[in-house]
Amino acid sequence: MNVYDSARMGDVLRPLGYAPVDAPDQADMIILNTCHIRDRAAEKVFSELGRLRLIKEARKEAGHGTIIAVAGCVAQAEGEEILARAPYVDIVLGPQTYHRLPEMVARAARAGGRIIETEFPAEQKFDFLPESEAPQTPGNLTAFLTIQEGCDKFCSFCVVPYTRGAESSRPVASVLAEARRMVASGVREISLLGQNVNAYHGEGPDGGIWGLARLAYALAEIPGLARIRYTTSHPRDMDEALIAAHRDLPQLMPFLHLPVQSGSDQILRAMNRGHTADEYRDLVRRLREARPDLALSSDFIVGHPGESDADFEATMALVRDTGFALAYSFKYSPRPGTPAAGAGMQVPEDVKDSRLQALQQLLRQQQDAFNQTMVGQSVPVLFTGTGRKPGQIAGRSPWLQPVHVQGDPALIGQEIMVRITERLSNSLGGIVEEEKEYA
Ligand code: 5AD
Ligand code: SF4
Repeated sequence: MNVYDSARMGDVLRPLGYAPVDAPDQADMIILNTCHIRDRAAEKVFSELGRLRLIKEARKEAGHGTIIAVAGCVAQAEGEEILARAPYVDIVLGPQTYHRLPEMVARAARAGGRIIETEFPAEQKFDFLPESEAPQTPGNLTAFLTIQEGCDKFCSFCVVPYTRGAESSRPVASVLAEARRMVASGVREISLLGQNVNAYHGEGPDGGIWGLARLAYALAEIPGLARIRYTTSHPRDMDEALIAAHRDLPQLMPFLHLPVQSGSDQILRAMNRGHTADEYRDLVRRLREARPDLALSSDFIVGHPGESDADFEATMALVRDTGFALAYSFKYSPRPGTPAAGAGMQVPEDVKDSRLQALQQLLRQQQDAFNQTMVGQSVPVLFTGTGRKPGQIAGRSPWLQPVHVQGDPALIGQEIMVRITERLSNSLGGIVEEEKEYA
């Protein structure tokens, strides 16, 4: 989402005459767009700011001013501290106020004062942002589109409800208009974004409230839009309508990021996730019934406060039962202000390390096994650019696997059937079966 937000900040600043440059030392303004989800996010920001300070000083000696802004969730959570510790920072703004950037820049340039905007404004930023420019992705063939932001779930470990704020959804008409503009500019694949994207409940053109499923059916009617993805989902918001959409809509890719975090009921309860491990298993079963080629990816946290060896074993068991095509796994890291950070029974670092290693080994095996099943199969690949070797073109399978073939660059931008012939460590190789768009 930060990639999308950064592009939108570019959109909002363009009318003021700002345009991207190749390196920070050429920039009149530098915005550091930050993430606060894990680890020592704030420290990373301060060390990056140290580098930017040198750039600002060198530019000043050459007679150029530089505005330094810190945006995103670290700014939201630690704005005051940033201003106190980094006197060369001019603007601190949270993720919900970047539509006001032009005004902040004007104020900073005019008065030379320092500005902090980290409240949650009553207005929705999307109502104030200019229309997005062509998406900032390779070849403009795939694009992100934020449809929902914030979260009301308050998982014990997570800062998102505090930094991104309460759940809110963009109206259907605004999402469809942005999607149509993207497709008109050549986009073939849209990834709908939201911290809780399947909790989407946007105001429809008919005055009713639309869920994600209904939105997906409407998007699927846009001619030329070959692929729709969405991320990231919560198991509790996976309703029957959305499962049915996976059965009905060929454009909805058979790849779902559905984080489970843990396989232990006790830890799921402590995490405030609102479902059990068996409920997750059952949900996966229903999804696969609807769309047999559906592959799953997930996030896992090891070492949440209170996690015993048996709890961790339950996570390993859930992974073995489910089979993930891809997964992201993390050691629990306490986030300031979250309930789990203050909880007793914190798990020692070395225990977290060994659990993470065991889990990642299992997940890696599953990922390799999944990729291996592709060898010998014919799969549609949306080609998005040239490959690393001469004569190669590259794209992705429906399951997000990078695929490369020897092929005509004229195929870039099309979805083409490819016979997979080999599995490399993180990608697949194949040969073009038929040089015509797969329908
Ligand atoms: N510690 C470790 N991992 C976390 N995540 C979120 N908060 C924390 C935390 N405090 C992980 C979750 C989430 C992903 C985006 O980041 O697995 O799904
Ligand atoms: Fe964080 Fe996701 Fe839980 Fe919301 S549902 S609190 S974003 S982990």
